[in-house]
Amino acid sequence: MDNQPLDGIAACVFDAYGTLFDFNSAARTASDELGDDWQRLSELWRQKQLQYTWLRGLAGRHADFWQVTGDALDFALATLKLDRPGLRTRLMDLYLHLQTYPEVPETLRQLRSSGLKTAILSNGTPAMLAAVVRSSGLDGAFDAILSVEEVGVFKPHPSVYRLASDRLGIAPAALCFLSSNAWDAFSAKASGLRVVWCNRFAQAPERIPAMPDGEISDLSALPALLLAAPSR
Ligand code: LAC
Repeated sequence: MDNQPLDGIAACVFDAYGTLFDFNSAARTASDELGDDWQRLSELWRQKQLQYTWLRGLAGRHADFWQVTGDALDFALATLKLDRPGLRTRLMDLYLHLQTYPEVPETLRQLRSSGLKTAILSNGTPAMLAAVVRSSGLDGAFDAILSVEEVGVFKPHPSVYRLASDRLGIAPAALCFLSSNAWDAFSAKASGLRVVWCNRFAQAPERIPAMPDGEISDLSALPALLLAAPSR
């Protein structure tokens, strides 16, 4: 995608898991117990976690992301026939202490020092998000930490993306949403936010409405895209 600078942006709103925080780091940290299975477990855990959010949304049967994450882990552990004592508890605890992608702290610092607001908008529960932000040393790096629990339905329900604008008091067109989850990025764009897709995993574009405004391979390219815009 040929990126054009984005003008008129007042706040950057970040997806959490996969965008700021490395969801693979939980199983990777437990590779002392999991051995070569850690990657298969991580992939299956994440896939099933997202599927459960979509299924619960469609069925109108919401449960919070902590439960869905645990349910998905149970499915993945059973599929791979991993039943070591204490492993489930350890992996769930590691989900509260995920590693931050390396460029995240400096990118947030640059955005904030140029006057932009920053926020998280995530499926995670308030407690999960508070824990991972704290353990990453990012306390104070966000103007708002917004959870779908405020609207009681997971992404990509349009009410989730509206929440960002409502709670920040900033028009959707002045919000830049960042997600490495392509379906999340495309859905935020379809809900009226400006969007830069952080395509960390070099994925093909989704075939759903609508195309993001820009695409970067990690967040370090974001400040230049926003701060180069004519109105700033
Ligand atoms: C989130 C998931 C989608 O943080 O990564 O909302």
